Order: sequence, then structure tokens, then C-alpha cells
Amino acid sequence: MISFKSIIKGNIILFLLFPEFAHSQASILPATPVAPFSHPAKRISADLFGVFFEDLSYAADGGLYAELIQNRSFEYSASDRKGWNSLTNWEYTTEGFGYGTISVETSQPINANNPHYVVLNIDDPGQNGVGITNLGYDGIRLKKGERYNFSAYINQISSKAIPVEVKLCGRKGEVYSVFKFNTSGRGWRKYTSSMSVKRSTDSAVLTLVARQKSKLALDEISLFPQETFKNEANGLRADLAQTIADLKPKFVRFPGGCLVHGDGVNNIYRWKNTIGPVENRIQQRNIWSYHQSVGLGFYEYFRFCEDIGAKPLPVIAAGVSCQNSGGTWVIGSTGQKALPFTEMKSYIQDILDLIEYANGPVTSTWGAKRAAAGHPKPFHLQYIGIGNEDKQTDAFRSRFKMIYDELRAKHPEITIVGTVGPSPNGEDYNLGWDFANRLAVPVVDEHFYETPRWFLDNNNRYDNYSRARSHVYIGEYASQGTKLINALSEAAFMTSLERNGDVVKMASYAPLLANLNHTSWNPNLIYFNNDTLVRTANYYVQQLFSVNEGDTYIPNIISFERDQSAKDSTLASSCVRDSKTGDVILKIVNAGPTAAVAKVNLSLLNVTGDLIVSKILTGNPNDQNSIDHPAVVIPISTRVKLTDLDSFLSPAYSLTVIRFSAKSNQHHVSN
Ligand code: AHR
Repeated sequence: MISFKSIIKGNIILFLLFPEFAHSQASILPATPVAPFSHPAKRISADLFGVFFEDLSYAADGGLYAELIQNRSFEYSASDRKGWNSLTNWEYTTEGFGYGTISVETSQPINANNPHYVVLNIDDPGQNGVGITNLGYDGIRLKKGERYNFSAYINQISSKAIPVEVKLCGRKGEVYSVFKFNTSGRGWRKYTSSMSVKRSTDSAVLTLVARQKSKLALDEISLFPQETFKNEANGLRADLAQTIADLKPKFVRFPGGCLVHGDGVNNIYRWKNTIGPVENRIQQRNIWSYHQSVGLGFYEYFRFCEDIGAKPLPVIAAGVSCQNSGGTWVIGSTGQKALPFTEMKSYIQDILDLIEYANGPVTSTWGAKRAAAGHPKPFHLQYIGIGNEDKQTDAFRSRFKMIYDELRAKHPEITIVGTVGPSPNGEDYNLGWDFANRLAVPVVDEHFYETPRWFLDNNNRYDNYSRARSHVYIGEYASQGTKLINALSEAAFMTSLERNGDVVKMASYAPLLANLNHTSWNPNLIYFNNDTLVRTANYYVQQLFSVNEGDTYIPNIISFERDQSAKDSTLASSCVRDSKTGDVILKIVNAGPTAAVAKVNLSLLNVTGDLIVSKILTGNPNDQNSIDHPAVVIPISTRVKLTDLDSFLSPAYSLTVIRFSAKSNQHHVSN
């Protein structure tokens, strides 16, 4: 078992290894990359680059989840956000001299999990009826020519059928679509229809009115575009989902982040609450001060992973809440709350049931629920994360160990990912690693939200991580900005992840998505509004690496021509081979202000042709993409000839990715 301590000195981390490892490890690591690389060829994890998804900044409701009605089931409340209630985002609609009353009731819900609904008692429908209007997420986005699926649960309380009108219209009365129907009897019934739209808008509202003196109850009022990602029912916003798919992530981590361990024990994310018919799911407050409809629940996450060919990486709380529970958002704060030990048995059973839900046969209890949802085949769950950057307390450790021991005993086939605090160093990091080493946790999750300089200076971070202890998942990282210089610093760091792809098993930039009108965390990889989305420079870096992953790292191929005495951490490179295509891929990063010459040692590669595909991402260091200027920093194709590689001029502030075919069977690969 290896243990170590870290000491922080400015931006440089010095790892002091304990004496028993001194023979195999350098005691103090250099702070900057050394060229040429002297590391052996290594296998690279097949799951290296993935994505981190959290419902933060309206990433799910109001974002990836394609539902257009906000607060569709009247479950918003003041505990989600001060001032919110069941009618938040709804208006009582009494146009045309109609009148009556509106109330929120709970005595006869569709389902006890979804307790609130609206009752309309219409005394006089006037000329236009009496009802309610939903404002969507900052308006409802409609596209000309597309169809929308409307549904609502209505309980006809009056004895006679009630004429109902549903309208998609603008705030000035312009009508985009309308349809009418009569209720068909007493009791809760689901009414559905599809609506076509003749004009595009991003600010429609949906109005439902009863056009007769009557009494009726309403709940679960929903509007989805028919064109969701892969046309899935209860599906995802197509442009956002496709943009994530275009990253070709090898895994998707969900459902967060801090959202997983929640704001107090009652706010811990419970996957079982998020499956089954949407109207029966248990909704809850989002730690980021809004509401989770959980319409995007574990079934939908698994399906999304399957649709984009990514492995699912669900993260489950370790039986403790976020250390920032109660609003103390300070590193080291101890608002952490723990589930009573008496509840741990059933809590652990929920995790075992998750594995059965994902992988069990249709004859099993939870496999049957997956099949009932429409997916008899397993989801091939391979990883489970336990905990999210938790404070390393006895409360955490004891509960983690209970979960860990049980999972290991019952499901040795599942790779468990542990957690080592919110920072790349410090107390939780050290205690977390000590604990992980003691338990021999297969993979641990490290998080870095650091400056570009930190990413450049930490290129060697993993070169001397022991290969004998836990492997690493860099579950959250970002360099505090979306400028080109941020993206390039991340690119430089990612070359080191490829070089260390034997010990760094997975990495995901975080967070992934932010709604521009509701951004509560910066930076993010993709920003969006109702109309469109912006891929950041950081997105393009992630994409250039992810679509150009290899399975073997080949050393000693690229060196920079420079003053060897100058420790220049702005230059970084990697060379990987993809054995499926036979291609070799070079990544050359210059995050500095002057061009640099990279020398590519082609003699070590068995080049079979001279077809070179090359992309470059470059510009001014402060360039960044925005909603108005989404293509300031964008990769462009360049022509590179093999002969150029003897002395390749890497422009200032650039990432160049060069791909060509080569036979590379001469490299000895160490595992
Ligand atoms: O990615 C945003 C937040 O950062 C995550 O929820 C949390 O794990 C981290 O502190």
C-alpha cells in the first residue's frame, strides 16, 4: 500500500513519497514537462475522455430535458427557492370577461408522489374561457413546421363534459397553434394531442381554458417537441444532446456533482425516485436553488448513454450530504450530515438494486422495472461512483466502507470510483488518498478548478503516480474561463492524461451545460438559450482530444526545439496510436506567445502513407465564443505534409492535431 503527502508551494505541488517507494519513484517531481519524453509506450484507458453532467444552471429542467412547460405538475415550492409556490410560472387566465376561482389542492392527487394540482371553478367562462397559462422556461421555443406533443391530466369534477381549449400563443395574442376537445368523464384522465406550428418563436406561452361553467382539476401539463434527440419519448433537446454526442464521450457521469449528495440528508439524490411514469416520480429541491422535476431520471440517463455509445457512470452519495449543506459554501465547511446507521442497510440495498436495474435479467425485480420501461436488454453498467468530493470525516469513511464492502462482495464485476475531496491537494485530498489506499479502491475521483497556469505547471502531475495503487478519475476540472488560453492550458494538461492513460482512467471537464439566463456556475463547456447554443473553445479542445483518442501512447516522438535550460511549461505534446484505424495522432500545444518548432521523429513510426488530416485551434489568447459570436475560436483544417514534421512550426497560442496512418508494431507496450 502506498501513502504520500503533498505540500503546496505556490503553484507547484511537490509530492514527498514515503521511503518504502523511494527506490521506484523520484522524490521530488519537476514542475514542467521535459522534452523529449522518455516514458515507455503505454496502453491508454479505453474510457479516457468523457463528460460530466449535473443539473446545475438549468442544465436538465430548462435545458437538456426537452419538456417545454415549467412547473408542469405544480410542485414548485418555497423550499426550492424563496418566493416560489405551486403556481410559480403559471398565470390565472380570465380573458374575455370570464371569472371564477383557482386553488391549489392536495386531497385527491393523481399519485401521492405528486401531491399538488390546480382546481378551476368557473362561474362564467366569458367570451374566451377561464384557465391557466404557462410561461415556459423564459418563453416556449417553437419551430415552424414542427409538431409538439401536448398532454395533461384532467379530473372532470362537474357532471357534464367540459369543452377545453389549448393554445400556443405569443404575449400579444398571436396564435401559433390551437386545438379543442371535450373531457370524457369524471376522475383523472390523461388527454393527449399533437400540435403543429406555423411560425417560429422563442417566447410563446401555453394557455389551457375551460369554455363552460364547470369545475375541473388539472395536473402534469406537458408539451414536448416531437423531434427530440433520436425521437425518444420523454426525450432530450435535440441540438444540446447532439452537441454532447459530437464529443464522442466514452462515458457520461450523472447526475452530478454536489446535487448527488445534496443539501442535507433529505436532499440526497435517490435514483429510485426518478424512474417510472413521470407523473409518479418524486420530485425534489435542487441544491442549486431550483426544482428537479426528475423527468430526466436514471432511465433517461441510461438511454442517453446507450444512444451516444458512452458508458454510464452514475454517482451515488456515500450516505452523507454535501459538506456545504445549509448554505455554507466555503471549502472545509462542515455542514456534512450523515444518514443514521439504522438506515444504511436499506440505503445500500438501493445501490444493489441500481445494479440490478441496469444489468439484471428481466426476471429480477428491478430488471423487470427496466423492461417495463421499454428496455429488456441490460444497460451494461460497469462503473459506480460512491461519494462526491466529500469531507473526509469518520461519518463519511464509515458509511463509504459499508457501501464499498457490500458492493465488492456482491458485485466484484463493478468498478467502484471513490472520492478524494474538492481540490488537487490539501487535507481532504491527502486523507482521501490514504483512505482509498487502505481500502484499495480501484479508482478515485480528483477535482481541479484551477488557473490556466496551474494546468500548465502540472503537466507532470501523473508521471510519477504509482501504478500500483488506485487509478484516477479526474471527474471535474476546468481552468476558470472560456478564453482560448484556458482551453489551451486544458489541452496541454490533456496531453499529460494521454501520456498517463495507464493510471488516469477517465477525465471529464465540468460542468457541461449552462442556460445563459440561469447560469449559477462558470465556466461551462456549452452555453445555451432557447434558440441556440455556444460551443466554447474548451469544448473544441475536449472534442479534438476525444475524437482523436488512441489506445497506446508512443513516447519519444515529439520534442520542442528550444533552449533546454528554459523550463517552458507552455509547450506540450503527445503521440498516440489508434489500433482500430492504424492511425497515429499527434497533438501539439503551444500556449505561449511565440511560435515554437516541434520536431517529430518519424523514424520511430512506420508511416504507411502521406495522407495527413490536421486541425488547428488558434487565435488570440483572450478570444472566446459567445452567443453573438459563436465561431471566434473554432478548429479549422490545415494542410500538413509529412516532410513538414521534421521541423513543424507550432504557432503561438495553438493546438494542432495531426493524424496519419502508420504501422507501429515496433513499440513495446508496458501495461
Ligand atoms: O461542477 C460544479 C460543482 O463543483 C459540482 O457540483 C461539485 O462537485 C464541485 O464542487
